[in-house]
Amino acid sequence: MRILVTGAAGFIGSHYVREVLAGSYPESADVHVTVLDRLTYAGRRENLPAEHERFTFVRGDICDRDLLDRVVPGHDAIVHFAAESHVDRSVTAPGEFIRTNVTGTQQVLDAALQAGVDRVLHVSTDEVYGSVETGTWTEDSPLLPNSPYAASKASSDLVARAYHRTHGLDVRITRCSNNYGPYQHPEKLIPNFVTRLLTGRHVPLYGDGRNVREWLHVDDHCRALHLVLTKGRAGEVYNIGGGSGLSNREMTGRLLALLGADWDMVRHVEDRPGHDFRYAIDDSKIREELGYAPRWSIESGLEAVVNWYRDHPGFWRTPAS
Ligand SMILES: NC(=O)c1ccc[n+]([C@@H]2O[C@H](COP(=O)([O-])OP(=O)(O)OC[C@H]3O[C@@H](n4cnc5c(N)ncnc54)[C@H](O)[C@@H]3O)[C@@H](O)[C@H]2O)c1
Repeated sequence: MRILVTGAAGFIGSHYVREVLAGSYPESADVHVTVLDRLTYAGRRENLPAEHERFTFVRGDICDRDLLDRVVPGHDAIVHFAAESHVDRSVTAPGEFIRTNVTGTQQVLDAALQAGVDRVLHVSTDEVYGSVETGTWTEDSPLLPNSPYAASKASSDLVARAYHRTHGLDVRITRCSNNYGPYQHPEKLIPNFVTRLLTGRHVPLYGDGRNVREWLHVDDHCRALHLVLTKGRAGEVYNIGGGSGLSNREMTGRLLALLGADWDMVRHVEDRPGHDFRYAIDDSKIREELGYAPRWSIESGLEAVVNWYRDHPGFWRTPAS
């Protein structure tokens, strides 16, 4: 089997590729992986096993249709991670989010259709549902995205659905909650707070810190993705969750405790405009249909991630930091 993985020089895609090439998943022992990545500020070749015999890296843009038409043919499946992924950046510079996340996804789907690729896994996010005060979202909940990032992902989900309904392309869509784990860019909340505390710097907490997010270890997300790729159904959406719902204040408290720091290291900063209050998803479909269950507890996951950033300063220290 040959899998093309877009955006795999980033956080989640690189974890997925490392695990596939390590044979960690059923049916992944002989898989050949091609990575297509533009290497934006968020992508690094060093995140990937360059020397692996079943690995090929192509640097390029998913919006480049000529390139897609050269790279896509010959693959059995596409796992599509490539995206602009940071909500704060989408507030100040939304154009690149629409270009990569919407137009780029449409180009990937169209190239897959033209090349006769068997299936496409479109990796999306629970943020497409918007904020929920109480209860949980199912896959049938309305799409009510609030940030430009979430709107671009919701748009790409609808384009993916249309390629299935209109052309019969086998597309599966996943919507996962917030991920954490090794190799995450230090602009994101957990690595940002960990690396700042490791270097004795204050951490910025948005607003009153009451916003609630569900946190899932990247390893659980990637196992779920491979389940959907190999056992899921065409045209279906699968929520992936099962992590821990924590307010940003609670998460901050846990990170302070793990790093032996006090609340005087916290600075309250002006809230993000349109900041969603709470995300919570119902993932019973993937649990019942595909036998998914997360393995990492938030306690063991956070401890491991703090240790990883402590042990890998080369990943996050820049001359300026
Ligand atoms: N991080 C999360 O908590 C989370 C949760 C649910 C879903 N997701 C989704 O998972 C996917 C991966 O997220 P991540 O956190 O690993 O992101 P990331 O920002 O760490 O990595 C994104 C990767 O995409 C590449 N890329 C960006 N634009 C590209 C383009 N035009 N052409 C080719 N490559 C391009 C970047 O170079 C980078 O390697 C995204 O689609 C995101 O929406 C993320």
